[in-house]
Amino acid sequence: MTKVRKAVFPVAGLGTRFLPATKAVPKEMLTVVDRPVIQYVVDEARAAGIEHFIFVTGRNKTVIEDHFDIQFELYDTLEHRGKVEQLERLRSMQPAPGETSFTRQQVPMGLGHAVWCARDLVGDEPFALLLPDMIMQSDESCLKGMVDLYAQTGNNIVAVQECDPAETHKYGIVAKGADVHTGFEISDMVEKPAKGTAPSNLYINGRYILQPQIFDLLAKQERGAGNEIQLTDAMLKLGKEQPLYGYHYRGETFDCGSPDGFVEANIAFAMQRADLRDVVINTVNRLSARKG
Ligand code: G1P
Repeated sequence: MTKVRKAVFPVAGLGTRFLPATKAVPKEMLTVVDRPVIQYVVDEARAAGIEHFIFVTGRNKTVIEDHFDIQFELYDTLEHRGKVEQLERLRSMQPAPGETSFTRQQVPMGLGHAVWCARDLVGDEPFALLLPDMIMQSDESCLKGMVDLYAQTGNNIVAVQECDPAETHKYGIVAKGADVHTGFEISDMVEKPAKGTAPSNLYINGRYILQPQIFDLLAKQERGAGNEIQLTDAMLKLGKEQPLYGYHYRGETFDCGSPDGFVEANIAFAMQRADLRDVVINTVNRLSARKG
């Protein structure tokens, strides 16, 4: 079975749910505690064994490319000042030369179109897809669990989680079939179902492992929900040609593309830090008391 070596990060989105913060700063560069959102997603991919990181960017997103480059003046200054800890932290996150690729989605035509833009960079091998709005917190990373399931089953895997049934119209929703190893067969899938029509409350949480045949299907895919080329619609067709499995992720997911998920993520990741945990608790206690 071919190893999943490459990951695609569609980072061309305009961030309209998060204005004015995202007017000049890409939403992927907003910080959760002290790391940009995109760094969490790249770290998750690396922890799952990914070796090459493909970014589908857009206009005004060049700062993402800069973030993953060496900042010579900064590194040099830190070295001269003996700031070993900061330097080591930056270096530990630094992709090696040749590990990153960047291409642009020139027009906003939906997630399916963004993924299709990466077809030549991915080539003829399976790949991971990580939606950068979604960052996760758990003992074992979501993509790592998926890579393990892939090692048992091969083919295509989509991660899902339960959502509030009142929220299903915001997501891709799957219906669960028979269990397979640590996953399950997907019996149906629909992108942003109209309220009251969802086949379940299992929503696609932004992590996928896909075979390269998805690109041919995306090339022919017509526009769907929101008048955009939807990945979910193409995956439904892929599932008719090859096995397509669901992976039920049990950890936390934060949707950092909107203020509520972003605030939750900041609290959750700060609570995990020994130096910040008490800051969160004390601040919440103090301000709650003041309000009451
Ligand atoms: C995309 C996918 C959807 C998925 C969601 C997760 O939608 O199309 O299936 O549930 O991401 O965030 P978008 O949020 O881009 O509208």
